[in-house]
Amino acid sequence: MTDQAALAEEIEQLKAERNAVILAHNYQLPEIQDLADFRGDSLGLSQEAAATDADVIVFCGVHFMAQTAKLLSPKKTVLMPDTSAGCPMADMITPESLAGFREPYPEAPVVAYVNTTAEVKAGSDICCTSSNAVRVVESVDADTVLFVPDANLGEWVQEQVPDKQIILYPGHCHVHVTIRPEAVAQLKQEHPEAVVMAHPECVKEVRDSADVVASTGGMVRFARESEAREFIVGTERGLCYPLRRENPGKVFYEIEAALCPNMKKTTLPKVLHCLREMTGEITVPAEIAEPARRTVERMVALG
Ligand code: 13P
Ligand code: SF4
Repeated sequence: MTDQAALAEEIEQLKAERNAVILAHNYQLPEIQDLADFRGDSLGLSQEAAATDADVIVFCGVHFMAQTAKLLSPKKTVLMPDTSAGCPMADMITPESLAGFREPYPEAPVVAYVNTTAEVKAGSDICCTSSNAVRVVESVDADTVLFVPDANLGEWVQEQVPDKQIILYPGHCHVHVTIRPEAVAQLKQEHPEAVVMAHPECVKEVRDSADVVASTGGMVRFARESEAREFIVGTERGLCYPLRRENPGKVFYEIEAALCPNMKKTTLPKVLHCLREMTGEITVPAEIAEPARRTVERMVALG
């Protein structure tokens, strides 16, 4: 038996003893995705966290995702194998900078991308992910909406919802902005038949050059249903693993530079350790959890 298989077997045993479930984001290392009970994008993971009847959730992703799982499942124990796995974009906004951003627009509701801390969600009105951001903004009963913190996603939503004025907070994902239009154009030149998929966190030039703009879960669905044989994957490289596993007859070209180091911090030994010792517990103080939960639940209620 390989070391990885032995580790996976030990994790399976502990998982059963603890009545635990393992949730993994689509960017996680292949061995973590293989181990997970559920893999998906931010929205799918939130829905799964809310629905599971396990006692323990082991969240393999970044901090805001585990925190969102805790908000939706307050009675469950939520563990992170490596609590230092954060999202630099989520850290670009604080409750103080949000308050300053709100000041000139006291009446405008705040739509917070799920890539935010619980404190920022607590000061916002409704949450969204990249797969439902358009629907969430459309659902808000206001002509002017504040969108935090990803200016690229917000700009893309503005293009889809021209009737509302969206005020953008100046945040970005350091991984998706490294996907340069020239790199996509070069791949397209080498593989003219390939369909270009881009995440809405990409810059406008990349989004405009894409055949489809979608969340990671949206790209998985699109590639599954598409007649095309070749795809350029305009998001973090980790997504190529589930795409290739599900579509053995199709070819996926990744963008070399698009790597999120935080998403790669979770390893099998760390999963085993956290389940064995019950370490890396994620908690949210009640006074923040209450309003933050309402913000996330308003999104989940949209379906
Ligand atoms: P998805 O919700 O599309 O999986 O995106 C999560 C994320 O962190 C993108 O960088
Ligand atoms: Fe955050 Fe970007 Fe990494 Fe997603 S890919 S977790 S938005 S830094």
